[in-house]
Amino acid sequence: MTLIIRNISAIETYPVRHPVLRAGRPITDCYFEGDDLTTTFHLGAYVDQQLKGVATFLMYQDDSIEELKTYNFKQCYQLRGMAVLHEMQGQQLGKKLINHAEETLKNKNVLALWFNARESAVSFYEKMGYQIVSKPFEINIVGTHYKMYKAL
Ligand SMILES: CC(C)(COP(=O)(O)OP(=O)(O)OC[C@H]1O[C@@H](n2cnc3c(N)ncnc32)[C@H](O)[C@@H]1OP(=O)(O)O)[C@@H](O)C(=O)NCCC(=O)NCCS
Repeated sequence: MTLIIRNISAIETYPVRHPVLRAGRPITDCYFEGDDLTTTFHLGAYVDQQLKGVATFLMYQDDSIEELKTYNFKQCYQLRGMAVLHEMQGQQLGKKLINHAEETLKNKNVLALWFNARESAVSFYEKMGYQIVSKPFEINIVGTHYKMYKAL
């Protein structure tokens, strides 16, 4: 098995975003605001040349997170659209994607990564060193989320 993680376009994430994060919904729901900004980047994890995992990183600061207040806007990135195809989950792909992203972000002098985590994924992110920094809140259709963060 060969694993390659590389930068991909927003559209290239859709074959993973759609079944994992937007199942049963129109493909247009896979679009995220900011997907095509020059400061945004998308990673794809290819196993034997097949795309199996994706994640998107946007330069964005959330004013409601106390822990981010010491950083300026450019020092903060938001993770969105973290997804691994169902048949490949639990095989360390997500972990490798996050590790790769953290190195990329550090090289860009980014100091903090944050995101809205689905309740079901919180333990995964805690294993990766992220901490909950909000009360639970609801996101329409998707369910309960927590804001999480890590200083890189
Ligand atoms: C959450 C997700 C990205 C994790 O990726 P993955 O490739 O399945 O996870 P990994 O195999 O890299 O797991 C790394 C570690 O976290 C653990 N883990 C993974 N998913 C977990 C979960 N949902 N709950 C608890 N632990 C989890 C693994 O057991 C592993 O532990 P170990 O290092 O002790 O062996 C993936 O399962 C997924 O796409 N889930 C559905 C979509 C989703 O919830 N995305 C996040 C939206 S915020």
